[in-house]
Amino acid sequence: MKLRQVGLGLLVLVLGGGVGFLAMAWESEIAPTTRPGPGSFDPVLVKQGSDLAAVGNCVVCHTAPGGKPFAGGLALPTPFGTIYSTNITPDEATGIGRWSEAAFTRSMREGVDREGNHLYPAFPYDHFTLVSDEDNRALYAYLMTREPVAYEPPPNDLPFPLNVRLTLAGWKLLFFREGAFQPDPARDDIWNRGAYLSEGLGHCGACHTPRNVLGAARTGEAHWGGGEVEGWTAYAINGNSPAPIPWNVDSLTHYLHTGWEERHGVARGPMVPVNSNLGTLPESESRAIATYVASMMGEPSPEKRARAERLLAQETAHAPGALVQSAGSQVAPRAHDPADRGAAIYAAACSTCHDAGRPLPYGGLRLDHSTAIYGPTPLNPINVILHGLPAPEGARGPIMPGYSGALDDGQIADLLAYMRRTFSDRPPWEDPAAMIAHARKEGVDGVRALDSGSDAPANPSKRETPW
Ligand code: HEC
Ligand code: HEC
Ligand code: HEC
Repeated sequence: MKLRQVGLGLLVLVLGGGVGFLAMAWESEIAPTTRPGPGSFDPVLVKQGSDLAAVGNCVVCHTAPGGKPFAGGLALPTPFGTIYSTNITPDEATGIGRWSEAAFTRSMREGVDREGNHLYPAFPYDHFTLVSDEDNRALYAYLMTREPVAYEPPPNDLPFPLNVRLTLAGWKLLFFREGAFQPDPARDDIWNRGAYLSEGLGHCGACHTPRNVLGAARTGEAHWGGGEVEGWTAYAINGNSPAPIPWNVDSLTHYLHTGWEERHGVARGPMVPVNSNLGTLPESESRAIATYVASMMGEPSPEKRARAERLLAQETAHAPGALVQSAGSQVAPRAHDPADRGAAIYAAACSTCHDAGRPLPYGGLRLDHSTAIYGPTPLNPINVILHGLPAPEGARGPIMPGYSGALDDGQIADLLAYMRRTFSDRPPWEDPAAMIAHARKEGVDGVRALDSGSDAPANPSKRETPW
């Protein structure tokens, strides 16, 4: 598995800060304790911790490929070098077995380890700082009752001076605001629950917020304004959401909980573990997050609403593309123009599944409903076209075949240009040649669909072969 996106700064600038800086930068050690026995924790608390750990995706980052859960060692590439996640099993020598609850809570709240070293923000403590003491207690109980694993992750591979943890104090000074979550009294409990989960433990912004050159999340309008992670676009989930059919609380709830939604399609790439984890919790948690996300997106503009109404009103009457164009675009429909290479490829390879009017979940999404076609970059459709959407393990047959063997880079570029022009009202993408070549070479992780929801297309018990 390749890596979580990471925030991490070039901190050199701040290193020269002198005595005041050093005083601020210094953190004390918290004395080691003997490991509390697993039986000393209330099982109810442990279960709460298990649910919270799912929201925080702890196991995703803290497990190396083929490694034991929570034992760490996953490589997180950053623009500055590679950071390895740590062992957070209760092993006394290599894990956090000798950490007290206070030491654990401090690491989540302040990004400091038990010995007092600053931690890299590849560990998303800039979000986890919002987690309440009670929830940290539950997470601690959960981690301390996992099986201890003796495993020492590889050392980080970072250049000087970034390998000096003290430099992180400078990054924190600039970008890190410590503090527990403050509920908004003007909002109801569900909204506040959603805000708490998604801004804090769920760390949605770690992927959905663009970063500055020092690797810190940008603020203000940029908050949740869309980012890039592991070769995928994590779309804007604020007022700039590019989704052609605007999201609402119900559709978001369904998507977050199952990884699929009828008019928005299936989640892929680094979003997949987020959905699979949320799918293990009561749906009310996804609904709370959805309530907050929908409020961040706000009401769609009249233009977006009108476009969506057109798309929905005509979805049974027209082949995809017809309505975007009939609604004022000057571009003539080209689907049947034999001179258009992209159109010919689409008609031959794609339209049977995407235009045949097959009801979801078995057919492909109508592509004029797809955020992938309206998004700011063609990264996600490139990944899907090259690698397809393999069925989850243990299920039969692909749900969408990959075309890396069948189509060359030029053909994929033509296909993308055709889809963008035909299925969206957005301006053409910039030349995708470099992105296609890169995605082909690197491959992508997580181009797979979920198997967690009753309606998810990947659910083998619900699926017939799409051929
Ligand atoms: C996006 C990836 C990512 C996620 C998600 C993540 N962590 Fe980590 N975590 C890391 C990395 C990387 C480090 C090591 C940072 C360093 O070495 O400075 C780390 C360090 C830690 C540490 C400090 C351990 C030590 O030995 O110093 C603790 C405790 C921790 N994580 C707990 C958690 C918990 C609990 C969760 C879920 C709520 C979680 N992490 C989710 C990446 C992640
Ligand atoms: C590890 C990175 C990562 C994290 C963390 C993450 N997302 Fe995503 N998210 C993505 C990516 C990448 C996509 C695009 C997936 C695709 O193309 O199918 C995505 C897609 C989405 C979409 C679909 C948007 C659209 O218009 O199609 C929504 C909604 C969403 N995420 C909400 C959330 C919420 C809410 C959270 C926090 C609870 C979250 N995400 C956490 C990476 C992430
Ligand atoms: C065997 C049927 C099948 C074929 C052939 C097929 N697809 Fe798909 N495709 C799917 C299914 C199923 C999905 C996932 C459905 C969903 O997202 O709801 C999908 C998803 C997609 C998506 C993501 C949509 C989204 O935003 O969720 C894109 C883009 C896409 N296909 C493009 C193509 C292109 C381009 C071709 C031809 C080169 C093609 N597909 C061929 C079945 C197919």
